[in-house]
Amino acid sequence: MYNIPKGTKDVLPNQSYKWQYIENTAREVARVFNLKEIRTPVFEYTELFRRGVGETTDVVGKEMYTFEDKGGRSLTLKPEGTAGAVRLFVENGLSSTPMPVKTFYITPAFRYERPQSGRLREFHQFGIEIFGSPNAETDAEVIFAASTFLNKLGVKAQLQINSIGCKTCRAEYNRALKEYFKPRLNEMCETCRTRFDTNPLRILDCKEEGCKKITAEAPDITDYLCPDCRAHFERVQSLLSALGVKFTVNPRIVRGLDYYTRTVFEFVSSSVGAQGAICGGGRYDGLISLLGGPQTPAVGFGAGIERLMLLMENTSSPFPQPPTADIYLAGMDDMSRNAAFILANKLRQGGINAEADLMGRSLKAQLKYADKTGAKYLAVIGEDELKSGSANIKKMSDGSAEAVNLNEIETYLKKEKKLW
Ligand code: HAM
Repeated sequence: MYNIPKGTKDVLPNQSYKWQYIENTAREVARVFNLKEIRTPVFEYTELFRRGVGETTDVVGKEMYTFEDKGGRSLTLKPEGTAGAVRLFVENGLSSTPMPVKTFYITPAFRYERPQSGRLREFHQFGIEIFGSPNAETDAEVIFAASTFLNKLGVKAQLQINSIGCKTCRAEYNRALKEYFKPRLNEMCETCRTRFDTNPLRILDCKEEGCKKITAEAPDITDYLCPDCRAHFERVQSLLSALGVKFTVNPRIVRGLDYYTRTVFEFVSSSVGAQGAICGGGRYDGLISLLGGPQTPAVGFGAGIERLMLLMENTSSPFPQPPTADIYLAGMDDMSRNAAFILANKLRQGGINAEADLMGRSLKAQLKYADKTGAKYLAVIGEDELKSGSANIKKMSDGSAEAVNLNEIETYLKKEKKLW
């Protein structure tokens, strides 16, 4: 017996339709927002994440799955989607294609965290990244795409937004933070004492109770925004209001990754327990140049699929019915079982989800199987049916039946399908 690694999850055959539903919804949202899919490798050179996500973050400091390959290269399983997307953008010269470049991805991501409900070591993200536009419309479009996605899934979450400014106002704010934290340093955790020197903004993201109490009274970034950042933030807010998106401004949202500038946001819900954030993102105008590309503004989000799933299951959001066979073709004896097998495979060529016995079961056992697995129609084929070339097609939901020519089952089911 082998066990699944800690913090990972299997998707079972009777659950996968939920994944497909969420992923199809993501793809449909991507289609209407004219986002094009990108796929990047599951691992990248470690340096990409160190630089991109930032040395002072928990993700880089504590949570990466880093290993050396047989060629002595340091590789890391992607802890998130943005750094790889930026590498793809720069390496493939997408900056010389018409802007904006609008992308999305559905990807696994890996973080060595303490697993709990809604927190896994392998999880999946639907993310979007829009490159090339510095304008507030893009921030609003990205947030509206996230909101559309959650609405389509019937997920209720509160949107919280903030601006963490640009280099100029951040320097000013960091000074104010340091001034505030300095006399309180010895009441704070060791990590925060290091953060004080390396990246004081990170202190606001600390989960330790003691530090949380202290940060509650810390100065707000929104009081330190430069005129340009303030105007940008106000424009984002007025666009969101015009789009009918409800939000609150929460100056404590600083995000756990280092690349953000200006707008940051999270969709949170109390129904996923302690792991409240189901979607997070923001603007990152400095990341592309940091990773060797031309100065290019960008904005995006990542939504955690497992957290969405949990939320939808907890709140009985409308998952579709799991798919079942359109028709089960049962055979009475060896000859008709053979005919049922051939017929089922013919129907499949016409796009019908058809099933026939693969187990050598008795007729009774075949009928039981068809019933248990929720086949929508049933046809029993025996000597008489083969002779006459027609069989009774029974509708399982109400027991009604109609005689149908064996060559016309496909047409019959397609007509019926419109009524399902
Ligand atoms: P993030 O906030 O680190 O942002 O992750 C985005 C989402 O991934 C979270 O809101 C959460 O739903 C999910 N998530 C994160 N960690 C875990 C975990 N251990 N287990 C389950 N779900 C998890 C990013 O990753 C950024 N790349 C988002 C972004 C894109 N910003 C700009 N563009």
